[in-house]
Amino acid sequence: MNALIIYWSATGNTKQVAETIHNALKSGGVNSVLKPVKEAETEELYEYDLVFIGAPSYMWQPPEPVQEYIKEKMNYHRERGDIKLCTPKLPGKKGVVFVTYSGPHTGISEAIPVGKYLGQFLEHLGFDVAGEWYAVGEFHGSEENSTKGRLGDIRGRPNQQDLDNITRDVNELLKTVTG
Ligand SMILES: Cc1cc2nc3c(=O)[nH]c(=O)nc-3n(C[C@H](O)[C@H](O)[C@H](O)COP(=O)(O)O)c2cc1C
Repeated sequence: MNALIIYWSATGNTKQVAETIHNALKSGGVNSVLKPVKEAETEELYEYDLVFIGAPSYMWQPPEPVQEYIKEKMNYHRERGDIKLCTPKLPGKKGVVFVTYSGPHTGISEAIPVGKYLGQFLEHLGFDVAGEWYAVGEFHGSEENSTKGRLGDIRGRPNQQDLDNITRDVNELLKTVTG
């Protein structure tokens, strides 16, 4: 089984989650490739059994470079006829999305639209979206947003517990895909 993890990260939170996924997949015997979005443009997603895509929440959306990547990939796959009406699921192809967020105003509601956006991309390509994973991340550069928001003091997050939760989610996923 092989896996591709694509992520974008400005201050390292999403990168930490991506690396945790990568390490857990490798420990589970999966051949895993980890790439930031800007290096993933030429990757053929259909060559992988498992595709992960992750981003932080920026005003409840994926950041611009992630949206650009998705638009370009959608155009590419549309031209090839891969985007089919009613979106039949491709056998054996699974996707997972992961999002980091600080939730200063409304908590996880600020991250869920990002998870849905990323998930729709994979689903439109025919991947079965097997997970939407959310991790709290410190709002680097803004002490106020990291201490006084809806989620309280989130400095140092994702912390070890957050990353252990991700490892647990990877292990659970591998149980379902490898039987
Ligand atoms: C420009 C900017 C906008 C952000 N907007 C939101 C937001 O609307 N909601 C939220 O929960 N977090 C927001 N955040 C916080 C990030 O989503 C959070 O810190 C994330 O973990 C950063 O990931 P990274 O370290 O991988 O870049 C924002 C951060 C920045 C820098």
